Amino acid sequence: MEVSIILAAGEGTRMKSNRAKVLHEILGRPMLFYVLNACKKSEIDKNIVIIGHHKEQIKEAFKDEDALFVEQPVGNGAPYGTGFAVSCALGEINDDDDVIILNGDAPLISSKTINKFLSYHKHNENDLTVMTADLNDPTNYGRIIRDSDANIVKIVEQKDASEKEKLVREINSGIYAFKGVNLKYAISKLKMDNASHELYLTDALKILVEEGKKVGTYKLKDKKEILGVNSRAELSKLECILRECVNYKYMIEGVSLIDPKNTYIEYGAKIERDVIIYPGSYIDKDTFIESGSEIISSRILKSHIGKDVKITSSQIEESEVGEGTSIGPNAHLRPNSKIGKKCKVGNFVEVKNSNIGDGTKMSHLAYIGDADVGKNVNIGCGVIFVNYDGKKKYRSRVLDHAFIGSNSNIVAPCLVEEYGYIAAGSTITKDVLKGQLSIERNRQRNIDGWVNKKGFDK
Ligand code: UD1
Ligand code: CA
Repeated sequence: MEVSIILAAGEGTRMKSNRAKVLHEILGRPMLFYVLNACKKSEIDKNIVIIGHHKEQIKEAFKDEDALFVEQPVGNGAPYGTGFAVSCALGEINDDDDVIILNGDAPLISSKTINKFLSYHKHNENDLTVMTADLNDPTNYGRIIRDSDANIVKIVEQKDASEKEKLVREINSGIYAFKGVNLKYAISKLKMDNASHELYLTDALKILVEEGKKVGTYKLKDKKEILGVNSRAELSKLECILRECVNYKYMIEGVSLIDPKNTYIEYGAKIERDVIIYPGSYIDKDTFIESGSEIISSRILKSHIGKDVKITSSQIEESEVGEGTSIGPNAHLRPNSKIGKKCKVGNFVEVKNSNIGDGTKMSHLAYIGDADVGKNVNIGCGVIFVNYDGKKKYRSRVLDHAFIGSNSNIVAPCLVEEYGYIAAGSTITKDVLKGQLSIERNRQRNIDGWVNKKGFDK
């Protein structure tokens, strides 16, 4: 059986965070998500995740995940280090398993590479295979030390390396494949005789070499895949790398990104062909945008955008927008807004928890909260749905073809029936029946000669 052990129990000190390192996100998903995802898409049968520091946070974030979480004791004088982490999972490992070990803080590994690595390991009948790479700057990685015949003999950590060893550019990726029986043997022999006083998994290599076991390396060409995150600077560097890949994929699939470097699409967002996305847009992983829509410098979260919609400089959260509708500039759809087809939600319009029928227009400066609005309704400039009396919220209903004049207030709960007309400037507290005009304001009086009498023109 192929089993993975993913190390995620470390403290992540260099992140300076109250959050577990592997929960820090890249394109809207925790780092650990990507490692698990690659494992699940590969030929691995069982995934074991080692957790310790912040273990409750990690278990909660991955509670629906099909993985086995094994706890590494931390603090109170417990040993520390990658070797100790692996030792905690040995009860789950059979002697004839092929065990692949990965780091939870190196999220760019792909299922393709995992599969190639495992088949290389098996094909060569190695007892241990280490994935390595040549880096221009190997700082902080373990170095691969070879003998005069170029056989690998040990891995030396940065802290323990001599000046000569520090010059080695071939590094340990932190990804290994072991035969179960060899892993168990090597782990039982680890010692803490190093600069960090930790149990280093890397020492397993030297132990097996000394036992005359077959130890090999697999050098990765696409070095990006093994990059790890130890600090927030590295987190953003990896996010840039992944964003470039993800954005490129969307373009291959027919989405136009005017400036991919300034377009932020989380991992998993569904975007159809012929969508055009302008710079400065942010689209989260739970959003679906249908073909032909244009997204201009907008932020869209957990929403469904229909075909041929145009959204300009607006924010849309947990909402639906129907085909051919235009939103913005500077509109805000708050959660649970359902906008029909061919609607117009214009400048400075805010909609919350409301249903808007097809063809309805609200072009400027309006607040529509807790309302059910029918088809082809006109909502004038400055209309407010007054939904809150200081204690409770109430809903209003406006039926098809109604006309709400500018600067009106609809005080909920209120019903405006079909073809109901509301005169501009009215505050409506009683239902308006079908075809009625409702006008609620003082009659205008014009007083002749008033200015002259006051003497304002002198
Ligand atoms: C490790 C390797 C190094 C390699 C590098 C690749 C060792 C000793 N060093 O160094 O050779 O080049 O990865 O990125 O293995 N962890 C636990 N429990 C612990 C300690 C760590 O689960 O007690 C986990 C961490 O959460 C992390 C992973 O193991 O996901 C690696 O630990 P980290 O401290 O980041 O090791 P590096 O110094 O990067
Ligand atoms: Ca690391």
